Amino acid sequence: MQSMTSNFLVPARVTGPAFFLLVASLLTSAVIPMPARAAAMSDHQTAVAALSDLQAAIGEIVRVDQSYSTDKHVYYRASQRAINALEGVRGPEYVATVGTSGDAAGAIGHIDALLDRKETPVWAASLDGAEANIRAAVAHLADSRHAHELMDYELSVSRALAYLLVARGGPTELGVFGGMEGVLASTVLGVPDGATIADGCAAPSTAPSYGVHGGYIAWVAVPAGEGAHALEESAGETSVIVRNGMIILPTAAASTVAKACNSHAAIEPTPASPPQRMAANALPGPADPGAASPAPASSSAVKPAPANAVPANTASAQAAPASADGPPPALYTKEQAEAGAELFASKCVACHGSNLQGTAAPSVAGNDFLVNAKKNGWTLQALRYLVTQDMPFNAPGTLSASQYADALAFLLASNCYPAGNTPFPTTDEPVFANIKLGPVPGPHPDQNSFGVCPNS
Ligand code: HEC
Repeated sequence: MQSMTSNFLVPARVTGPAFFLLVASLLTSAVIPMPARAAAMSDHQTAVAALSDLQAAIGEIVRVDQSYSTDKHVYYRASQRAINALEGVRGPEYVATVGTSGDAAGAIGHIDALLDRKETPVWAASLDGAEANIRAAVAHLADSRHAHELMDYELSVSRALAYLLVARGGPTELGVFGGMEGVLASTVLGVPDGATIADGCAAPSTAPSYGVHGGYIAWVAVPAGEGAHALEESAGETSVIVRNGMIILPTAAASTVAKACNSHAAIEPTPASPPQRMAANALPGPADPGAASPAPASSSAVKPAPANAVPANTASAQAAPASADGPPPALYTKEQAEAGAELFASKCVACHGSNLQGTAAPSVAGNDFLVNAKKNGWTLQALRYLVTQDMPFNAPGTLSASQYADALAFLLASNCYPAGNTPFPTTDEPVFANIKLGPVPGPHPDQNSFGVCPNS
């Protein structure tokens, strides 16, 4: 489950044994204690409370699994208690009589409270994505209350867990910058009330303190002297620097802040590095979560054709495989990519971010995405399969065939594949199994700093 790349392009479905493995692994997760409820909560307290409710919901599911109860009502009750923790008393699925280990506002209530403002803080997109995932989880938990067989219950609940883990995010040492944990680790929402805040562009001069710039935490400084100096909450620091009697913990946002400090530019919505591999460690993936390098796509669902099974000259001219020396294939039209851009803005942006670098989900274009795609041998067929079968993650399969074609055209354009005269098809083409994705050779003058190309 720790592998950064093992679960990508694998449809996120959990089967029986994997479900229990997943649940077991969750037991080791840290649980953030509930803060004392005050009349008016600070943004930081609200964010911590949202994460706490999320953990409470996960805890309900985990505990009931450990109970090995044979009474299905025990399971239904756990699903309802998890829903209560997620939705809070104002949610449509809330049922007061079963109680909850969450609080009255619920994760969604807290997130809505944070998002209810005129400006758009750096953490807003991640919280939007987290909320979308939480709502999807609630829907699956609601289904699980009606399951007749334990198998059906497990299927719904494991689906719900997958969403909850994405919403929770993960520790930043894995390069995560999204979900509730990512937000707490790298943005001002993670700065405890009353903490000393310093300029994130400068080195720390006092400890403990938080270095903040443009809404991001660049570093956390802790005194290096004798005594206990534990931070109130872990800030997801990625490394440790000891200097001038202080321990300095740069966060996942450190490089983003450094760039902004040097250029006096506005901070990009998500950091350039490390790669945003949201939920790589969190999403339940293939049956063997420890496998070092599983097939890039569900091997039963996508059978990659053996190399050169379709000779290039029998394929349509536009679909010739990309190779280092040949020109990259033109697989879509410019019009499709433009339509796809609009579609992305309404159907995908909440999780994948406006710059495609991922907020509550992995990046889908640019250097991180393409380097990974190449390393894992992803084909166009696998990409098409994942998008058409599993996206949008919260409503798979809900777009029309031509909308999916547009979305794929947009992804190809953003990944610097050239446009041509033949539209991206609405059905799979055998040759797609031979088109390996990876950085497209040649100059791309309009590429942004993430390696994403404009779509027109
Ligand atoms: C509710 C959140 C959400 C929405 C909305 C969403 N996605 Fe995703 N997407 C995810 C998650 C989570 C993953 C990782 C799932 C996995 O690997 O199985 C993912 C993975 C992907 C990937 C593979 C990236 C990689 O590196 O593994 C692509 C491509 C993708 N999505 C495209 C889209 C497109 C196109 C849309 C809109 C039509 C969309 N997504 C909408 C959450 C979302």
